[in-house]
This record gives sequence, structure tokens and C-alpha cells, in this order.
Amino acid sequence: MDLQQLDLFAKDLIMQAGQRIRAAFSYDLKIETKSNANDLVTNIDRETELFFIEKIKEYDASHKILGEEGMGEKVESLDGVVWIIDPIDGTMNFVKQHRHFMITIGIFVDGVGKLGYIFDVMREDLFCAMAGQGAWYNDTPLRRLNPVKLEEAVIGINTIWVTPNKRVNHEKLIELVRTVRGTRSYGAAAMEIAFVVSGKLDAYLSMRLSPWDVAGGIIIAQEVGAVASNLQGQPFNLLSSGTFMIANPSIHSQILEQYIELK
Ligand code: IPD
Ligand code: CA
Ligand code: CA
Repeated sequence: MDLQQLDLFAKDLIMQAGQRIRAAFSYDLKIETKSNANDLVTNIDRETELFFIEKIKEYDASHKILGEEGMGEKVESLDGVVWIIDPIDGTMNFVKQHRHFMITIGIFVDGVGKLGYIFDVMREDLFCAMAGQGAWYNDTPLRRLNPVKLEEAVIGINTIWVTPNKRVNHEKLIELVRTVRGTRSYGAAAMEIAFVVSGKLDAYLSMRLSPWDVAGGIIIAQEVGAVASNLQGQPFNLLSSGTFMIANPSIHSQILEQYIELK
């Protein structure tokens, strides 16, 4: 497996897909809902995923593709080369704000994360990593994260989780919000993960994310020493949805132990 060559190919595809998405604002977006009225998808999400699938299959038909919109094959194991793709992460931002949405991709070989990408489509900013070789923000290497105290941390969290909900004790999360220096909510999981790996946030957590939201970010995390796990502290399962946290290693277990009480 020539990772350098695969990396160049993946970056080129991401740039092409980004260009297509930016051009799509000049024609009609067809917006539909999926699992609920706030779960949006557009024709551009689907077209972008199809674009990736067609190009990847041309490159090597043996590569498998797990995409959010389900336009690829059913992927039931991580054997072989598997691309996990969210063609647009932050679809609500895409539709409403025309910014703050990402293309994110993780490439795994026999279950081991090798190449990770998070691309801010409108800013044309790329966060990426190659396992064992490091991580970059555009052309600048990302440094390993410096320790931070929880009281000085800025964390990403959707405010829904600090209201009564069926998944987690929200009172504990209110305590967490009161403890840290500040909170942010950007509406695109991959963007929040990109901010953690580059030290712009110190943690990001969610009660429900899917493999395509986090796959690229998990690979970048390894290279900067950020810790990614589910909210039980175990590795996130890349074949199903679940709880997720990525954090600076100095506060990861403190948040889990003192502030997370799953129902
Ligand atoms: C969503 C965004 C959002 C997160 C949701 C995701 P989508 O992805 O990342 O920030 O809170 O859980 O599903 O649907 O825009 O790709
Ligand atoms: Ca997503
Ligand atoms: Ca998406």
C-alpha cells in the first residue's frame, strides 16, 4: 500500500469535491429531512458522496466505501481498505449559513487508521494526518497538544445535552459547563474535532455520533496526542453510532470520571 500516493489522490479528490460544492450554491438546493425534521440532507450531499465513490472505484475497485448517505456498498467489516466518508458534515450550516461545513474522510487498512482529513469547504482549510508521520493544518505541522487545566479549558458541546434528555445526566453536564472557562457549539462535529486536534478547543463531546462524523478526526487525533473514545472510555466503534468524546489528554479522564453519567 503506497500511502503517499493514496494521500495525494485523496487530497486531490477532496479539493475537487469542495469546488463542486462551492459551485452548487449558484443552483437549486433540494432539501429533504431524514430521521427527524432537523436531520437534513440535500441533493449536494448525495451527489458529493457519489462523486467520491465513482472516483475511488476507478482508482481501485477493491477499496470499500462507508458513506453517510449510503450510496456505497454495505460495509460490515473494516477488512481491506475502507474509506469512511461524510460528504458534508454540518448540513444544517451548509443550508442555513452557507459556511461552517466540512468534508471529512478516514482511510483505514484492516481496521487501522492511516489517513485522516477534515476540510472546511468555504475557507478551503485542510486538517489532515498520515499515521506515524504527523498531522498538518494546510502546510503547517500540528504540534502535540500542551496540557490544560479543566478550569481553563474551552469545550465544544451542543446545548441540547445540558437540557433534560434520555441519554445523559444533564445536571452533571451543567456542572461541567460551570467549571470550564467557556463552551462553544459550531454545528459540525468534524469542525469541533478539527479544533480539538489543533488546540482551538480542549474537548468536544456528543451523545450520538456516527462513524463518518469522527473517522477522519480520530486518525488526526492520534498524531497530536488527543484522546478519542466513547463516553465509557473505550475506543469508538467505527461500524455503529454511539457516544463520543475527543479531548486534550490532560482532561479526558477527568471529564469522563467526574461529569459523565450515562443513563
Ligand atoms: C451532524 C453534525 C452535527 C452533529 C450531528 C451530526 P451532518 O452531521 O456533525 O454537528 O451534532 O450529530 O449528525 O448530519 O450534518 O452530517
Ligand atoms: Ca455528519
Ligand atoms: Ca453529513
